[in-house]
Amino acid sequence: MTSHAIKGMKDLFPPESALWVEVESVARELFGRYAYEEIRTPLVEDKALFARTLGEATAVVEKEMYDFQDKKGKWIALRPEGTAGVVRAFIEKGLAVSEPTSRFFYFGPMFRYEQPQQGRYRQFHQIGVEVFGLTSPLVDAEVIHMADLFFKKLGLEGVMLELNSLGCPLCRPKFLAVFTEFLKKVESSLCEECHRRTKQNPLRALDCKNEGCLRITAEAPSIQDHLCDACEQQFDHVLEGLGALGTSYRINARIVRGLDYYLRTTFEFTTTELGAQNAIAGGGRYDGLVHLLGGPNIAGFGFAIGMERLMELVIKKRGEVQTAGAPRPHSVFIAPLGEKGLREGFKLAQKLRDQGLVVGMDYEGKSLKSAMRRADRIGASHTLILGEDELKKSVVLVKEMAGGAQKEVPLAKISKESFKA
Ligand code: HAM
Repeated sequence: MTSHAIKGMKDLFPPESALWVEVESVARELFGRYAYEEIRTPLVEDKALFARTLGEATAVVEKEMYDFQDKKGKWIALRPEGTAGVVRAFIEKGLAVSEPTSRFFYFGPMFRYEQPQQGRYRQFHQIGVEVFGLTSPLVDAEVIHMADLFFKKLGLEGVMLELNSLGCPLCRPKFLAVFTEFLKKVESSLCEECHRRTKQNPLRALDCKNEGCLRITAEAPSIQDHLCDACEQQFDHVLEGLGALGTSYRINARIVRGLDYYLRTTFEFTTTELGAQNAIAGGGRYDGLVHLLGGPNIAGFGFAIGMERLMELVIKKRGEVQTAGAPRPHSVFIAPLGEKGLREGFKLAQKLRDQGLVVGMDYEGKSLKSAMRRADRIGASHTLILGEDELKKSVVLVKEMAGGAQKEVPLAKISKESFKA
């Protein structure tokens, strides 16, 4: 019986895997310029961490967690997102006290038990950043701009920044009261899910994709009209900061995010190119979270990008990912014949790898034809033939794959210089 990957989880093969590494290194380089450093936290955390930080009544905690008991009966969960673990680690290491203004980035898999569809997986990957200890709205603008710059560096067009403020513990409860009142009035026209939301997590009604609900909530009171003076001023400064950096945005009072820890600035980067799963990144301010988890009362801000969605855009933009067989620079293939050829080829392969070349080799030593086919498949620029004749003369026959030109090079003298045009 053959084994299959778990539903909603994907294998990643070359050449796409190489493209992921390339995209990750663009992030590393860019985020490094803003002094972010990499953090790696476990894929598994105490289940309670997520319930406390993301919120008991959120879809992620209520329905989507991969949680289970370990051998001693402790409830643990595969991380559904990165922020909670980073905040936990930041406090546990003592950095929240010793270095409260810290900046981290991370890459890695996250797990949510969602209904898989295009752009939505049960294991997916995020590139995330978290900055701590800075309350200035200029930080919001700077971090959002950095994400925008990242998409631009990847050559993506048509990625839109949608921005909102969720208010603070002073003004949000007042808005929630008004908003819930509105939902109650229109309750009979809302979908079943929104009925439930009205009771547990009313703001999520703004996220509902049901057309009827969308029409009704278009008339709902807007959080933008209920911000307190401090929140309004903070939001204005964020917009000013974005303006100063030349970042385009659209204010969208429906950006309420699916996780409870946010306050004030929240945002998503969306695209019209991916169908229903149109958010490629999301984030915002979470000033109360470090304190909630037992740390000092310091600010937090960050975002995470969904890699699968991002890569779909990158691949669309570039056309097909480069496939095997396309010429690769610095790549040669050794085609030895017979026992002696194999022994010499084996040593030669190592010598050339030590010089930085990508070297493939035929370990059968039987058929030149099949060796040439494999050389073609790996996209080698040259094939190095070590047959009986060559070995007698202590030379290698260097064959250029593109034009077919060939030359003999003394075995002792062959080096990466031998393959220069
Ligand atoms: P999030 O909006 O839940 O935020 O996830 C961020 C991004 O991850 C989404 O915009 C989407 O691109 C991707 N994503 C989420 N779920 C899936 C899925 N099932 N399949 C594929 N991609 C998915 C967070 O996770 C926050 N921790 C972001 C953050 C960091 N806020 C502050 N700091």
